[in-house]
Amino acid sequence: MVFFKAPPDWQRPHPRVTSEGVFWRRRRFMTSLIGAGVGLAAASAGGCQRSTTMDADLARTLGEPLLGVSRNRAFADAGREPTLQQYASSYNNFYEFGGSKNIWASAQALPVDPWRLEVTGLVKNPTTYDLDDLTRRFDLEERIYRFRCVEAWAMVVPWIGFPMRALMAAVEPTAAAKYVRFTSFYDSAVTPGPNLGFARNLPWPYTEGLTVDEMANELAFFAVGVYGRTLPKQHGAPIRMVVPWKYGFKGAKSIVKIEFVAEQPATFWNTLTPNEYKFEANVEPDVPHPRWSQKKERLVGESTALFSWEEQPTVIYNGYGEWVAGLYG
Ligand code: MTE
Repeated sequence: MVFFKAPPDWQRPHPRVTSEGVFWRRRRFMTSLIGAGVGLAAASAGGCQRSTTMDADLARTLGEPLLGVSRNRAFADAGREPTLQQYASSYNNFYEFGGSKNIWASAQALPVDPWRLEVTGLVKNPTTYDLDDLTRRFDLEERIYRFRCVEAWAMVVPWIGFPMRALMAAVEPTAAAKYVRFTSFYDSAVTPGPNLGFARNLPWPYTEGLTVDEMANELAFFAVGVYGRTLPKQHGAPIRMVVPWKYGFKGAKSIVKIEFVAEQPATFWNTLTPNEYKFEANVEPDVPHPRWSQKKERLVGESTALFSWEEQPTVIYNGYGEWVAGLYG
């Protein structure tokens, strides 16, 4: 599926992101590669055209190989080259761990083992999953999605996970369920962000929400991996939301609770600044943020320079109108 016009000449061919035909094996850590920290960003992900190096400390934060995961052909081409992992995994928003983009080191304090994800509320089968339940019960696949932050930076990210609607089929929301609320891990003893001045008064824990129909859309995804490996903590290990037609803040990280509810739930940014961060938060170039235009976006790590900030036009629904426009007719 190609959503966009053919890439211009300066774009290189898309790398294969994970090798197919090998087996899913958790807990196998490629210590030697990581120790060397050589070319790991792309090499571990199946061989990118560019050779690059990654800071060895950053390389140590990457997850364990997720083998035997096939790419979903419908999402094999996002119309842009995937962002190199050295950029995507070191330029993050995760306010629980600080207010800058450089939180990958402090995010390593996130405790992920054991992990429990409670699914509750207006469902026939409330269930609490541990991570093994999730990865055994739901078939994992890889999808290369465009990612657009409300701050106007953009990436292309190869996620591994499963469609949210597979989880809905398991828990069976009742007819009364109209919205879904997602809650991130929060413990002020281990997440320094909330103790910092700027974040002390934010409405922790981080929460996000979707309508039930949005959650049932084919695109809505739970990621447990990225770039061929389990999710690094800075990306929201061990499981996070990915909603590619919406601004990135809708994708709550490190989720511990999913509640099916009747009314639109309060959410983190929308509670804080409702005129800046709407509940719906679809990518819409003609709807400016009160403090900046959304007509253009800047690609993180597009060139071999750290951040080239090459500007591209923003596309309605981030290019996914074919899948989601019907939700908003
Ligand atoms: N989830 C939690 N729990 N805390 C956060 O601060 N930031 C959001 C979203 N999910 C955030 C979060 C924002 S603003 C963005 S743009 C994306 O995560 C960034 O995801 P990435 O760091 O994996 O690129």
